[in-house]
Amino acid sequence: MSEHNIKTINMYNSGGALEYIQRNEIDPETEKWDKLFDYVENNLCKDKNKKIIEFGSGCGQLAFMLQSAGYNVIATDTVDDFLNEQNRIGINKVKKYNFLLDNYNDVFDFKADLIVSWRNPHLDMDDMKKLFDVAYNALTDDGLLIINFQNADVHPNASVLPNGTKCEYKVLEDKPTKEKRFYAYFSKEDIEYLRKDLFEIEEYHNEGGKEQKNWHVLTLRKKV
Ligand SMILES: C[S@@+](CC[C@H](N)C(=O)[O-])C[C@H]1O[C@@H](n2cnc3c(N)ncnc32)[C@H](O)[C@@H]1O
Repeated sequence: MSEHNIKTINMYNSGGALEYIQRNEIDPETEKWDKLFDYVENNLCKDKNKKIIEFGSGCGQLAFMLQSAGYNVIATDTVDDFLNEQNRIGINKVKKYNFLLDNYNDVFDFKADLIVSWRNPHLDMDDMKKLFDVAYNALTDDGLLIINFQNADVHPNASVLPNGTKCEYKVLEDKPTKEKRFYAYFSKEDIEYLRKDLFEIEEYHNEGGKEQKNWHVLTLRKKV
């Protein structure tokens, strides 16, 4: 787990998560969640027997929508304020889980059919590699990983860390926070490096921002 992810968790634990939850109440981004829900549902072929785990669920909107539609889903996070919020909105299955530190088999006693990691821009290249390895081992043989990454093409002036991570510490203009946060950006080549030995690409597109290219969105199928 990188120093950047440790700083991120510390920031969320010391008020950052409450700030995030409050902003979500003011701007619940309903359209974005509806779109993601449809995308996930399509990739699941609407099969309600599939076991779904979401990594870093934050306020829990996606997990709640999936649960409400009859899917078997577990929301997770490592930050208590987010876990409390997930419980508060009525998610039945909530687990404290740090996907970079905790042993999957100590927390879950089954393999997942789908893992979702949505909008977790606070992971550098090594953290992301670890997430891919963890997801690979946690999935059933034809299991899916739905994941998005901020697109490095949109951030040409980012710094580059020795491990190849393109990143910056900043406050977002449209979502101002008290402290700067770590954001990592990934190129298509970075994603190839992360996925090529472990996953096939089932679906890929870009979305977000005026030009619809702020994020890479992928559905990956575990290679067997
Ligand atoms: C930017 S928020 C996104 C939350 C939610 N997925 C969304 O799209 O609104 C990133 C989330 O990932 C969680 N997170 C970051 N690092 C984590 C880790 N190592 N293990 C578990 N959760 C983590 C944070 O606590 C936070 O809830």
